Amino acid sequence: MLVLFLSLAAFGQQPPEGPPPGGPPPGKRMPMPEPKNLKLLKPEHLMETMQSFRVALGVRCDFCHVQNDFASDEKPHKEIARKMIVMSREINTNFPDGKMHVTCYTCHRGSEEPATKPGEAEHAEHAEHAEHEPHNQP
Ligand code: HEC
Ligand code: HEC
Repeated sequence: MLVLFLSLAAFGQQPPEGPPPGGPPPGKRMPMPEPKNLKLLKPEHLMETMQSFRVALGVRCDFCHVQNDFASDEKPHKEIARKMIVMSREINTNFPDGKMHVTCYTCHRGSEEPATKPGEAEHAEHAEHAEHEPHNQP
């Protein structure tokens, strides 16, 4: 009985089919082409910064970027993001210790437009519009 249990337990731990997890070791990632349009950020740790933007706003890369052309400034959100980088830096230099305390996430918390008061959901505005819509019908 015990043997059966152990063999079942071992069987249960079999990893699912597919390639082994993990991917390439750190530092040996897919090479990224040299950035050619950086006005504020440094090429070092650029991808970590980009991931943090993505998470902070709860968006995908293409919220700010034209697909397959990251250097392009065509999307207005990218230019807004640059202004936000400058603004965040200014805020941080005004702290008594001059350290980085405020990040994109501090305000955005996973949403495109930060709330200005408690309980203010991102969709609240849209819901309100929807409520008023029927009155505008002829
Ligand atoms: C909130 C907006 C925003 C999001 C989301 C975002 N980026 Fe960016 N990205 C920028 C801005 C702004 C720059 C330019 C920074 C500068 O001028 O120093 C940039 C620059 C880049 C560059 C350098 C392009 C070049 O050649 O100059 C790459 C590559 C890039 N982003 C990749 C990504 C990837 C991959 C993601 C998703 C994981 C992502 N970005 C998400 C705003 C964003
Ligand atoms: C001090 C608070 C604060 C910080 C810090 C901050 N933001 Fe914002 N951000 C806002 C507010 C408030 C808005 C909405 C007002 C507006 O649209 O102009 C906004 C709007 C945006 C938008 C436009 C979103 C849309 O739907 O149009 C982008 C893109 C953005 N922020 C990116 C960033 C990035 C990237 C960072 C970090 C480098 C950042 N923000 C840091 C407060 C902040």
